[in-house]
Formats: sequence, C-alpha cells, structure tokens
Amino acid sequence: MDSRPIIALDFASQQEIAAFLENFPASEKLFVKVGMEIFYQEGPEIVRWLKSLGHDVFLDLKLHDIPNTVEKAMQGIAKLNVSITNVHAAGGVAMMAAALKGLKAGTAEGQTVPQLIAVTQLTSTSEDQMHQDQLIEVSLAESVAHYAKCAEKAGLAGVVCSALEVADIHQATNSEFICLTPGIRPAESAVGDQKRVVTPAQAKEIGSSYIVVGRPITQAENPYQSYLEIKKDWSKN
Ligand code: C5P
Repeated sequence: MDSRPIIALDFASQQEIAAFLENFPASEKLFVKVGMEIFYQEGPEIVRWLKSLGHDVFLDLKLHDIPNTVEKAMQGIAKLNVSITNVHAAGGVAMMAAALKGLKAGTAEGQTVPQLIAVTQLTSTSEDQMHQDQLIEVSLAESVAHYAKCAEKAGLAGVVCSALEVADIHQATNSEFICLTPGIRPAESAVGDQKRVVTPAQAKEIGSSYIVVGRPITQAENPYQSYLEIKKDWSKN
C-alpha cells in the first residue's frame, strides 16, 4: 500500500519524460512506472536518472524465459534499486523462484530487495483467446487465481491484475499478497482503450495495494493537479 498512485511514464524518450516531470515541483517525490517501450529506447540509464531525481520506480519489463536467464537478468535489475519489478507467471513456479533468487543475489548490502510481482493473464486476453491460444480450458478467473497461487508458492509478493480480479485473488492467497492494478480512471475522465475501469477510490475499496495511472495524468491539461486529485481519491478511507 502506497499513498501515491504509480504514474505510467508511457513516453517515447527521456526528453519527453523530462518535459512531463517539469509539471511537478522538484520536491514532489513520485512513484513511476518504466515500461518496455522506454526501457528499450533509453536502457537502464533511464532508471538511474529517475532514481537520481528521488523518484521510486516500478520496472515493468514482464520477464519470461528459462529460469537461469531470468535469474541472471534479475541480478542486473536489482542493481538499479527499483521498488517493484515483474515476470510472467506463465514462465512457471521454478522461473518465478529463480527470478526472486536473482533479485536477492543482486541487491546490494543495506538495500531493500525489490518487490517481485507476476503478470497472470494479460487484461488484453479474452477468455475465448485464452481457450484458443493457450488451450487452457478453465475460466479466465480460475486461470488468474491459479497463476496468483503459483506466484505465491514461488515466494512472490503479489500480482498485476485488473481491479475486478482483486477479490478472487485475495480469496486464493495470503492476506499480505499484493494486487497492483492498472485500468484506473477518475470518475469524469476519458476511458480511452481501457475496457473495464474503476476509480481510484473504488480500487481502494476493492482491495488494490497499488494503482497504476497513465493517461489521466500524462495527458491532462494540468498533470500535477490531476495527480493530486487522483492521489486524494486513492488515499481517502
Ligand atoms: O494510460 P493508462 O492509465 O491506461 O495506462 C495504464 C498503464 O498500465 C499502461 O502503461 C499499460 O500498459 C499498463 N497496463 C495495463 N493493463 C495491464 C497491464 C499493464 O493497462 N494489464
């Protein structure tokens, strides 16, 4: 649980991110999400730069490979001192456990091991697609809950999921298990291409541990004001 919404920095370059961050007072320490689009453009330097400005980082690279490769990659990621990072649960329990092992091994003395979470079924995957493409015969909800249990078994801290899946996941896992949820829209804002959205306050009520918000802040006329409003809605009891 963090009182700050995590801002998805979905921009094409460091320059664009720098211009966006100028909307915020330098004293406002943010929690930001760095995804694969920007990471593959700018490399790890983008994370070092954001950290040097005092921001916390969720590095959303969704690793999925053989356990040994993911373990080694996570050793490198740990050196970036991010707060949260992730893998695909479809990589299996052994891969997730290896990822965690790599993170622990790569974390310097005195630093906190990043929280490792798993992507279950992507929210862009429909139940029909899952049946056809993955030959998974159970319902989407069952598959998501199963992947969450696998992540828990591997020792992970939680999952990325739709706010609408949080209740089922909480039921399937321990009470500390994190649900990080994108697909958040303030009541009056445009939905864009997101289909199933909830407000920050609804996400809180449903039991989300963290919310990720992109366009309602990044595309706002006044990003700082929009951020503060979303933060207020997310932080209220
Ligand atoms: O702009 P918006 O608030 O829709 O951005 C949400 C962010 O969360 C984007 O970076 C998107 O890629 C990410 N995301 C998502 N749904 C998922 C996983 C990640 O919207 N299931």
